[in-house]
Amino acid sequence: MDKNQHLLEKRESSKLGGGEARIKRQHEQGKLTARERVLLLLDEGSFQEIGAFVEHRSTYFGLDKMKFPGDGVVTGYGTIHGRLIYVFSQDFTVLGGSLSKTHADKICRIMDLAVQNGAPVIGLNDSGGARIQEGVVSLAGYADIFFRNTRASGVIPQLSVIMGPCAGGAVYSPALTDFIFMVEDTSYMFVTGPNVVKTVTHEEVTSEDLGGAKAHAEKSGVNHFTASNDVEVIKQVRDILTYMPQNAQELAPHTTQFSFTEAKNKAIQSILPDNVNLPYDIRKVVESLIDDDSFREVHEDFAKNIVVGFARLEGRTIGVVANQPAALAGVLDIDSSRKGARFVRFCDSFNIPLLVIEDVPGFLPGTDQEWRGIISHGAKLLYAFAEATVPRITVITRKAYGGAFDVMNSKSIGADLNFAWPTAEIAVMGAKGAAEIIFKREIAAADDHEAKLKEKEAEYAEMFANPYRAAERGIIDEVILPEETRQKLIVGFKMLENKVDTLPKKKHGNIPL
Ligand code: HXC
Repeated sequence: MDKNQHLLEKRESSKLGGGEARIKRQHEQGKLTARERVLLLLDEGSFQEIGAFVEHRSTYFGLDKMKFPGDGVVTGYGTIHGRLIYVFSQDFTVLGGSLSKTHADKICRIMDLAVQNGAPVIGLNDSGGARIQEGVVSLAGYADIFFRNTRASGVIPQLSVIMGPCAGGAVYSPALTDFIFMVEDTSYMFVTGPNVVKTVTHEEVTSEDLGGAKAHAEKSGVNHFTASNDVEVIKQVRDILTYMPQNAQELAPHTTQFSFTEAKNKAIQSILPDNVNLPYDIRKVVESLIDDDSFREVHEDFAKNIVVGFARLEGRTIGVVANQPAALAGVLDIDSSRKGARFVRFCDSFNIPLLVIEDVPGFLPGTDQEWRGIISHGAKLLYAFAEATVPRITVITRKAYGGAFDVMNSKSIGADLNFAWPTAEIAVMGAKGAAEIIFKREIAAADDHEAKLKEKEAEYAEMFANPYRAAERGIIDEVILPEETRQKLIVGFKMLENKVDTLPKKKHGNIPL
């Protein structure tokens, strides 16, 4: 046979993965194949494959007769919106996408290239975990990947898309990356599946309940973004990348294609209810400040009392962290602190300025929170803000009470500009609680305790339920009208564009984990 023809045929057969029947099964389950996913993810015609003919070298349990070119993972590079991207896509049609040492080596090669060339890695995961027939060699392959995930953390963005059942080692590499995307109904993540769970703990649970997209979006917080199918999740990944730089030495791309509906500026004044104890949706405030349709919420269904996500201000990426009065009155608890901290650290790693919108009544009290470690978890958010060197601006819309005031990007922990609306209340605690403590004796001695409490509450509120004590001490830089806020943010971030702030020389800090 003609040698060129031979090559072309080899190429074609490598594209078949585990064969037509398994591809058909993959499609019947509503899933695309590994190769189809890559082609959809990358700009048309840009994919360059590496290692299409690589095969494993194992012989145990008949593996020597089960060889597939590429060994169950499609790897290579290409572009998304014209920017270089490295990608690996596990092929469930080949031995369940299981990871052999060879399969791992292919992924490692892509990761090494990505770090050396400063471009993101996207992993399309669809794998039954370590290739059981290979034994410890495949475990070592996983460890090779985990090592690289960790070393690449904060150097290049790493995104993991879960597109099938991912079990065992297949979940730990994604867990080490920056963001996890999951597909409803077809993707699962668990350290051990329902059968093992039943044997060990006698719990009966479905794959969906144990480790489906919803369970990880709402309960564990492992999943950052949920999509309804393979096509949608790939669109999400392409979109979210536009908010990120290629690596930690660069800035996120700046687009001139943005719009802002001026009417939002007028409406912003009426978002806060007159009664300070009533909730409102902080997303409305966020949406009113940023470029139209630019908000991409991260972790939308987890710890809803804090809202985090990417947005744009005049075409430039910012990271938004906002307390959400519409959920648990916006208190900080364990989950919201973890969620906020992780997002702040991503933004700081990749030079994304931070905007904090604050309306926080404090930390959530109680034995549940204390015994599960709100002290350490709350400290994560404090630590994350305090160590962030990117430009940071805070806007206090309403409550800024107690330790939570300090934590939410206060000036003393390094925020560059702190604004407050006239409705801001910056105090150690709410007026009632404060009056009950500091006027305890006076209230007890009064003939009418209730009336005295009310009087003292009003006295405390008069003193602190406003932004002016803080402004007098320079703790707040400026008290601003809600409709002035967008412009203040635009010029503020512009002023901070060339900010240089460095951490003291150290190996690394010791964030309370
Ligand atoms: C080798 C595997 C495999 C694996 C699946 N297959 N997982 N082969 N090693 N880990 C093969 C199956 O034998 C089958 O081959 C084909 O892939 C498709 O699998 P099915 O079971 O038919 O598919 P499905 O019903 O969709 O179930 C998918 C699954 C299930 C949920 C992933 O296969 C499963 O539970 N696999 C094992 C998961 C697991 O326990 N992994 C942990 C490995 S230990 P045929 O030829 O029949 O089509 C590990 C530790 C690492 O990963 C720790 C690092 C920290």
